[in-house]
Parts: sequence; C-alpha cells; structure tokens
Amino acid sequence: SGAAAEPVKEGRTTVIAHRGASADAPENTLPAVDLGAAVKADFVEIDVQRTLDGELVVIHDTTLGRTTDVETKFPGRAPYRVADFTYAEISTLDAGSWFGPGFAGTQVPTLQQVLDTLHGRAGLLLEVKSPELYPGIGADIAADLDSKGWLNADARAGRLVVQSFNWDFMREFNALAPEVPAGLLGGPPAPAEYAELSTWADQINPSHTRVTGGFVDLVHQYGMETWPYTVDDPQRMRALTALGVDGIITNKPALLSDLLKTD
Ligand code: G3P
Ligand code: CA
Repeated sequence: SGAAAEPVKEGRTTVIAHRGASADAPENTLPAVDLGAAVKADFVEIDVQRTLDGELVVIHDTTLGRTTDVETKFPGRAPYRVADFTYAEISTLDAGSWFGPGFAGTQVPTLQQVLDTLHGRAGLLLEVKSPELYPGIGADIAADLDSKGWLNADARAGRLVVQSFNWDFMREFNALAPEVPAGLLGGPPAPAEYAELSTWADQINPSHTRVTGGFVDLVHQYGMETWPYTVDDPQRMRALTALGVDGIITNKPALLSDLLKTD
C-alpha cells in the first residue's frame, strides 16, 4: 500500500511459516496451517489459485500431480492443471498421503477454510500464484478476504500481506485493495526502481540467496521491509537476522522462534 502504511511489525524478526509448518505437515493443508498457528508463527504463508468453477484453493504447483493422488483418481486428465478441475473434483483428492500415512485423506483447502483457521491466531502471508493464469483473481481474493473479516481491521493491524512474483498483478491488486500491505516476491530490483516501487509496495521478498546488507539497507531507506524465503538452516537464519531482515520465511517456524528467543 505504500510508504504511508504502518510497518507490518516492529522489533523482533517476524516468523513466517512457509506453506504452513511444512516440515512437519503436508504443505498448504489445514494441518500445516493449524500447526503454524499452534507453534505461534507470526504469519502463515500460503499459495492461492483458482479452480475451473471459480473456487479459490490453496496449493503451490499449478498442477495437482505432486501433492495429490489426482493421477490415480482422474487418469487421462494430464497435465492435471488446477484450472482444469472443479472444486467438487479437487475436494475428492488426498493431499496428505504423499507426505505421510498419518495425513491420509487431508484435502486441498479452500482459501475460505484457511481464513477461518487462522483468524485471530496468526497473520496471513497470501501469495497469489501465477495470477496471469487466472484473470480477475485479485477481485475474487479481495471478496473472500472481505467476507471473512480480514480486509479492513486486520489489514490495518498488520496481520495480512498479499504478495506475488507477478509485480504487474500486485500493482493492480494494490489499486483494488490499497489498505492491504503489498509484497513483491523475487528481485532484488535495480537500485533506480526502489523510489517508484516504494510509493505502493511495502515489502520486497527475494530468495535468501540474493540478500546482501546493501539490499536490506536500500529496502529500509525507502521505508519498506524484507521477508526473504525459504530458510531452514539455523546458521543462515542468524546471518540474515544480523543483516537486519524484517522477517524470515521458513518451513521450520518453531526452530526460528527458539533461535530468536535464545540468541
Ligand atoms: O513466500 C515465498 C515463497 O513461498 C516463494 O516461493 O515457490 O515457495 O512459492 P514458493
Ligand atoms: Ca509461496
């Protein structure tokens, strides 16, 4: 939403559970989201896409094969795109067994289910995955956020960030929902780009491998924050904290929280 927005969080490094607490439960499922909140991550990150019949669902890949049993249940529907299946079809899929037998029968959740699971327990870092495949998905997301009570009060209280690798989409989403803090995945951008980006974006979130002290300083100089992804190694967590990053996106939120408490 831009330089005038409140910082998402001040003080301690923000802990963000990547795809939920996805080292201990299947990514982007309600058990992973619930576990992220239970271990007191500040935010839970999820990936949002849209089914053939317009339901917003939480899944990382644009195809269903890696994290569900779609190939068994719907043979012949390759390449198993999320966008080619109805929600009724997707709701029959097992999105837990690939991770472990204890999660058999876990479904692909809807965005609405995740919004209900997290509300009042943890913040939401909502990644819009490949929005170029889903025309109008920004308005759909804003409608769900609004109907579940996340849009105004929660966005203003710094409990919601929407991010995407698609910066053109983020610019459009920010025009639609200017009260929601906007995150730009990827980069870092060229130094000359920061001034304009900072008029509407709140975060620049690159891969942790791209983070330098100079990048962190530049982001802060322009009144933005950075939450790099995805860091599970304690030594790298410490190094990034020392560089002054504002948050760290991790599959192991409990490990990061413990490290921030004891360091
Ligand atoms: O939140 C950042 C991170 O999730 C981006 O990469 O591929 O895990 O969605 P990916
Ligand atoms: Ca993601």
